[in-house]
Amino acid sequence: MVKTTKIFKVNAESPNEEVIEVCARYIREGGLVVFPTETVYGLGANAYNPNAVKKIFIVKQRPMDNPLIVHIAGFKQLYEVVSSIPAWVKDFLVKVWPGPLTAVLPKSKRIPGEVTAGLDTVAVRMPLHPVALKLIEKSGVPIAAPSANISGRPSPTTAQHVIEDLWGKVDVIIDAGETIFGVESTIIDLTREPPVLLRPGPYPVEKLREILGKNIIIPEFARGLSEADKALSPGMKYRHYAPRTPLILVELKDYTDLSALTLKIIELAEENISKGKRVAILSSSETAKMYLKHLGKRAKIVVLGSRNNMYSVAKNLFKALRDLDKLNIDIALVEGFEEKGVGLAVMNRLRKASTKIIVVD
Ligand code: TXA
Ligand code: MG
Repeated sequence: MVKTTKIFKVNAESPNEEVIEVCARYIREGGLVVFPTETVYGLGANAYNPNAVKKIFIVKQRPMDNPLIVHIAGFKQLYEVVSSIPAWVKDFLVKVWPGPLTAVLPKSKRIPGEVTAGLDTVAVRMPLHPVALKLIEKSGVPIAAPSANISGRPSPTTAQHVIEDLWGKVDVIIDAGETIFGVESTIIDLTREPPVLLRPGPYPVEKLREILGKNIIIPEFARGLSEADKALSPGMKYRHYAPRTPLILVELKDYTDLSALTLKIIELAEENISKGKRVAILSSSETAKMYLKHLGKRAKIVVLGSRNNMYSVAKNLFKALRDLDKLNIDIALVEGFEEKGVGLAVMNRLRKASTKIIVVD
């Protein structure tokens, strides 16, 4: 079904109140509103309205067994959406919220089963973005929102990405420019002891362990290395972020010396070029000149960011994956990164997006 989509441009730090009020009305009346968060754009609906929530699954073409994150604007709302919360969890959340962290907790009766795909837990997040917070506040209800992309595509970090996927399918798109982190929130399951990382994100797990004063388990699937245990994390089993262009990820076991990495990528590039294939390389700023020197104009080099600032790599990642399909190439090679800090999130996304992984000794 095609509907009229309205697009509103707002200032990210101080959005126009009247515009947000109009958008909040759409939420209250059961509509779909795309809004910016500090991570990626979200496709929002009133979390208390099962029919509105069902529309999210339809327009995203999302499997119904993949639950949604409920976005709240304050701690009062937390008590509406969860059934119980131990003191250590509350103390922890006060320290990390608002921010790019999602907590899995026991759900309250107010949250319909459509939101949680029938689970007895709910994923909750208090975002840091002023537009997101204002929209939730003015709506007066928590907002259920997955990333605002068609299922399986890279998450949107600009309104343009949202337009590509969801134009004519949602009521409103709020455009506040590029999002800050560019990868989705860190998700931890706080119903388990010790807590379990379900998805790495901008909030590094090292930092969370420090704040929590507890260990956090990192399962293989959170590194993007295996399929998720369905009971633990229903959504993680699906292939994600995949560009249509074949993507080969080249990893190192140890990133202190990058020469083995660049050599392997140059070798793979040469091999494909000699077969008449058009090649792109997604590289760090540190290694880009090596490819330029050896391959010149025979390969397209896309710089993701610096290894010394993994936030820059995270921020450009989804845009680069989307752009791959517009580069008019046959195959893309991407460098691996160290799984430290936000590097863990980058590697989780890259492993899920790639068609093949090569590990170089
Ligand atoms: O940064 C983000 O988290 C963005 C913005 C919009 O907030 N949202 C986002 O939502 O990435 P989505 O739906 O694309 O990813 C949410 C993930 C899914 O993989 C889902 O399976 C998992 O959270 N999830 C949701 N509820 C869960 C639950 N009760 N238990 C375990 N995993 C859950
Ligand atoms: Mg998503």
